[in-house]
This record gives sequence, C-alpha cells and structure tokens, in this order.
Amino acid sequence: MEFNDVIQKRHSVRKFKPDPVPMDVVKRVVNAARLAPSWANMQGVRYIIVASKEQVEKVANSIGPKWAKTAPMFVAAISDEKWSGKRGDLAYFMLDVGIAFEHLVLAATNEGLGTCWLGAFNEEKLKPVLDIQKKNRIVAMTPLGYPAEEPKASPRKELSEIAFLDRYGTAFE
Ligand SMILES: Cc1cc2nc3c(=O)[nH]c(=O)nc-3n(C[C@H](O)[C@H](O)[C@H](O)COP(=O)(O)O)c2cc1C
Repeated sequence: MEFNDVIQKRHSVRKFKPDPVPMDVVKRVVNAARLAPSWANMQGVRYIIVASKEQVEKVANSIGPKWAKTAPMFVAAISDEKWSGKRGDLAYFMLDVGIAFEHLVLAATNEGLGTCWLGAFNEEKLKPVLDIQKKNRIVAMTPLGYPAEEPKASPRKELSEIAFLDRYGTAFE
C-alpha cells in the first residue's frame, strides 16, 4: 500500500472476523516494530504475541471490553523505565513503546489487518496471564485481526489549530 494510504486507512477497529492471521504476516508486522528508532538504540520494548486460543481468551477477559472477545489474537508491548533513557525526570520508555507500536499498527494496516491501541486495561490482572514481572510494565495492547467492520474516521483538529510557523501562535497555512 502507498504510505499515505496506510496513514489514511488506519482507524481503530473494534470488531474482528474469526479468521486467523498467518504467522508470516504477523512476523512482518512485529518486525516493523523491531525496526523502530529508540533512545540510544536501546530497543527496550518486548512484544508478546498472544495467539493460542487459551491465551487469547484469557487476555480478552482480562482487558475488559466485550468487543475484545472478537479478536483472533493480541500483541502486547512490554517495557520498563530501566530499558530506556531519561532526560531529567522525563522517562522515555513510554515514547519508545509509542514509536515502535505505531510502526506495528501501520504495518498491520498495510497488511489489511485491523488494530486498536489499548491503554485502558487492568495491567495487574494481565501481568500474570502473560508472565510479566511485577516491576515491568505492559504499556500497550492491541487486538490483531481482519476487520469485520469498516471503521469510521474519527474527527481530527485542523492543521491550523495545532501547527505553528516559527513560534507558537503564528499561523501555519
Ligand atoms: C495510547 C492510546 C491508548 C488508547 N486506549 C484505548 C482503549 O483503552 N480503548 C479503546 O477502545 N481505544 C483506545 N485507544 C484508541 C483511541 O480512542 C483512538 O485512537 C482515537 O479515538 C482516534 O480514533 P482512530 O484510532 O480510529 O483514528 C487508544 C489510543 C491510544 C493512542
């Protein structure tokens, strides 16, 4: 897919077909995350590809929303403050996950797959399901599967509201 089409076509998908995603496709998608930039190239994000029926069911039950039960699989992004850098008190591991996971999400879109970034889930309930240590963080989750709906584009602010030329407040048109 052409890059701009990938950007335009990515929307959060919350209803999936039961069809499994071939593992070679999943590998391409996760590999896109592997290639993401990170603080000092520390590559401090780990991915759990949740594919077995038993684990998919457990994860869907742990994360909450009913629609999650339609997902044929999930990917979780794990990180830790110590796995990345800091600028003063600003911990960059969240940003490293954000960049890598968006690589994954866009690569999934390119494969005709649907995703939905998930941040609101019960991390403490999910950690034992995925064998994640208490001190590490499950930063993001996404279902991964073929969409069973054509999601609507969510509204966005106009460029003129969010981008400025040279100084904050100067119109960028
Ligand atoms: C960091 C992050 C966390 C999110 N957490 C959730 C979530 O817990 N549940 C959910 O349904 N959507 C979640 N979303 C999806 C957003 O609601 C969605 O991206 C936004 O409304 C824009 O819609 P779009 O993705 O279709 O463009 C999250 C998105 C991001 C980037």
